Amino acid sequence: MNKETIVGVLGAGSMGSGIAQITATQEHQVVLVDLNDDALAKAEASLKKILARLVEKERIDEVTSNKVIGRINFSNNINDFSDCGIVIEAIIENLDIKQQVFSQLEEIVSDDCILASNTSSLSIASIAAACNKADRVIGIHFFNPAPLMPLVEIIPAVQTSENTTTSARQLIDGWKKVTVLTKDTPGFIVNRVARPFYGEALKIYEEGIADFATIDWAMTELAGFKMGPFTLMDYIGNDINYTVTETVFAAFYYDPRYKPSLTQKRHSEAGWYGRKSGRGYYDYSENAVKPEPNKDKELGKQIYKRILAMLINEAADALFLNIASKEDIDLAMTNGVNYPKGLLTWADEVGLDNVLSKLEEMFQEYGEDRYRPSVLIRRMVRENKTFY
Ligand SMILES: NC(=O)c1ccc[n+]([C@@H]2O[C@H](COP(=O)([O-])OP(=O)(O)OC[C@H]3O[C@@H](n4cnc5c(N)ncnc54)[C@H](O)[C@@H]3O)[C@@H](O)[C@H]2O)c1
Repeated sequence: MNKETIVGVLGAGSMGSGIAQITATQEHQVVLVDLNDDALAKAEASLKKILARLVEKERIDEVTSNKVIGRINFSNNINDFSDCGIVIEAIIENLDIKQQVFSQLEEIVSDDCILASNTSSLSIASIAAACNKADRVIGIHFFNPAPLMPLVEIIPAVQTSENTTTSARQLIDGWKKVTVLTKDTPGFIVNRVARPFYGEALKIYEEGIADFATIDWAMTELAGFKMGPFTLMDYIGNDINYTVTETVFAAFYYDPRYKPSLTQKRHSEAGWYGRKSGRGYYDYSENAVKPEPNKDKELGKQIYKRILAMLINEAADALFLNIASKEDIDLAMTNGVNYPKGLLTWADEVGLDNVLSKLEEMFQEYGEDRYRPSVLIRRMVRENKTFY
């Protein structure tokens, strides 16, 4: 594939229109298809607005902006994908619908066209199973907002050919994205490894150890994350974040490590989704007073060491289970969710023996499988090894 390759994008929602913007900016002709004309009109208007802002900020000139928008064919006819070299699907997260669509796509595109899904939570194998040529199906998972977040997870299914994987990765690398290769397992890298950032923070709150503002303060001021867990959950939306956790939990056969939180469920049930609904863990109304954190350093350290140990444990276990390479696991967290450091690099810095003692202390205290240290961490400490 090269710049001459026509790129198809199915679904003109938040992800699809972002992916179309990236590909058109990379000088490909793009066919952006949605069944819903309103969605297409909205995508076109929002892309024009984004490009106008880029011109205003002098990031691109008017001519380039016109060229980018001119490269996108907004269409409600899926048959317009017939000349595409790759189609990236970003429609509703529903397996039945995605399977129907993939089987329909095969009737339209040529034999060597790659079919990719941007799914966050479905298995690529199950989507590929709907196709006759399952070896051309792959997961290409962008992060929101797609034009701004560098990371793209490349997820071959068991059926995917090496050719498909190599071509897809080369293409996306050429778009100046940071690609990581991951196994087709629940949550891929980021949505799996990041679970404790939310889950452990919620548990600390539920146990009455600290309030939302204090936990957020500890994770930003002391640990260096750009956003604290509660601010981030409010930003993502508690409905969405809860659903991801529930899906990952079920997909891992109810491993207690991924157990969702009732606090988050209640917030979601109450319609307290976060920023988008004006209220989440925090109040976003105009005259709301921001709660003050308790800036007790000792308490803050306890909070951040506990969450960090759980995050490192998750990253180490992903490596132990060959979900991705150590470099890709670190790249995924710094480029997909803006972590200040890769978790395995961080583990070397704080000392894996310290991480293990924190995990063992919690495992003893709670008697819960949730806190079991990864076998890899135990082995590495025994053998006095570091990740890098
Ligand atoms: N939003 C995120 O943060 C995010 C991040 C990464 C991946 N994803 C994944 O990307 C996909 C899309 O998510 P989104 O947030 O952009 O959704 P969205 O609801 O914003 O957009 C989905 C679009 O698909 C269209 N659509 C639905 N069924 C269709 C069909 N059969 N044919 C053509 N168009 C159809 C809808 O009209 C809508 O415009 C999902 O699989 C989601 O899991 C989302």
